[in-house]
Amino acid sequence: MKLVKLIANLGYGSRKDVAMMFREGRVTDPDGEVLYADDKVPHEHIRIDDEPLDPPTGLALMMNKPLGATCSRKDQGRVVYDLLPPRYRVRDPALSTVGRLDRDTSGLLLFTDDGGLLHRIISPRAQVAKVYEATLGQDLRGDEAAVFASGTLMLESEKDPLEPAVLDVLEPRRARLTLTEGRYHQVRRMFAAVGNHVETLTRVSVGALTLGDLAAGEWRALGQDDVARIFASPSRD
Ligand code: URA
Repeated sequence: MKLVKLIANLGYGSRKDVAMMFREGRVTDPDGEVLYADDKVPHEHIRIDDEPLDPPTGLALMMNKPLGATCSRKDQGRVVYDLLPPRYRVRDPALSTVGRLDRDTSGLLLFTDDGGLLHRIISPRAQVAKVYEATLGQDLRGDEAAVFASGTLMLESEKDPLEPAVLDVLEPRRARLTLTEGRYHQVRRMFAAVGNHVETLTRVSVGALTLGDLAAGEWRALGQDDVARIFASPSRD
């Protein structure tokens, strides 16, 4: 791909803007040598204003989504893209969230511009485990784990029962729930179906990939090992 198109697709500006950046000598190699639009240079050797070029297509990243941000590009109010470099919102191919978390849910949110990877993660066939921790409005009754594991629980206005899910009771009003599907407001609706109410909800892992030491609002790019972890079983500690 031509350098102008490559750089424009990464969100640095229109092709016209990027052509101007070349003319202004802002596109260089690591030694500061000015690059020209027709040069053939490996991605990692390109600097713009002395900064490395953003990662190429095939980008995957994780964020510790804070409460109050929505998984949208254009909602009014705070959106998760506000926490990323502004260019990431206009990359082509688009950087999308892998599924969504509600505005009032915090925790591990994935993004990728790789459509194949996105589908592999959300495909029901992949059975990728999403692990949530919830605090509840009322003490657990004791039968919830069996109800959630049954594979017969029907949520209102759904046609199919939920896949079996695993509930670990951590405290009388705190539980960990492991799901292999992602229906609308699923965790909140599951607890509502057993007469309870979710007060706080956070996603702590996707497969074996955990938040680690990412603070709320922080994000980082994923390496191949991280991506492999998404498809591994979560630890049950
Ligand atoms: N289930 C919910 O209810 N909300 C989320 O954000 C994710 C799963």
